[in-house]
Amino acid sequence: MAKLGWILFLIMTAIASALAYKFIISGDTELAPDGRTTILFEDSERTFFLTEMRNFLIAVQQITDGIEKDDMTQIANAAKKVGSGDLAHVPAGIMAKLPLATKKMGLSTHKAFDQMAMDAESLGDKDHSLSQLNQILSTCTACHALYRVH
Ligand code: HEC
Repeated sequence: MAKLGWILFLIMTAIASALAYKFIISGDTELAPDGRTTILFEDSERTFFLTEMRNFLIAVQQITDGIEKDDMTQIANAAKKVGSGDLAHVPAGIMAKLPLATKKMGLSTHKAFDQMAMDAESLGDKDHSLSQLNQILSTCTACHALYRVH
């Protein structure tokens, strides 16, 4: 009887681990022909996700323009728009499908924009903003190298 208990315990642990892997670590994904991982969204989720992405690019453009013009207010405002306040609007379905690594990279990108907005206001140093933007861009390209959407 004790043996059966152990077998059941091991089976339950295996199932729980598989579920945890699926829902927390891997998300809803498959391997793409180009070697990247495809995140399998519904149409509306993909539209939402790609709109957020284009907002990132708009922010990058606005920030670069602000740096060139030495306009710290423009830099702060553009960074704030894609800061972590943005995360409140992300539908739960998207969060569930994102692999853990993308959630981490996405969160750190939003937080880096928060920091950029705060520093632009408090330090007023465009060279510092440029170096922050440079760091953020390396996260953008790192994620794009590993993931795509369907
Ligand atoms: C957490 C991962 C991740 C991060 C971080 C990330 N992206 Fe993306 N982005 C993606 C994925 C996945 C796609 C879809 C690519 C594909 O299917 O080929 C994408 C697509 C895009 C697109 C295309 C949008 C469209 O309508 O097709 C743009 C523009 C973009 N990202 C800009 C950015 C910029 C700028 C940053 C950094 C500020 C960034 N992304 C950060 C994952 C990320």
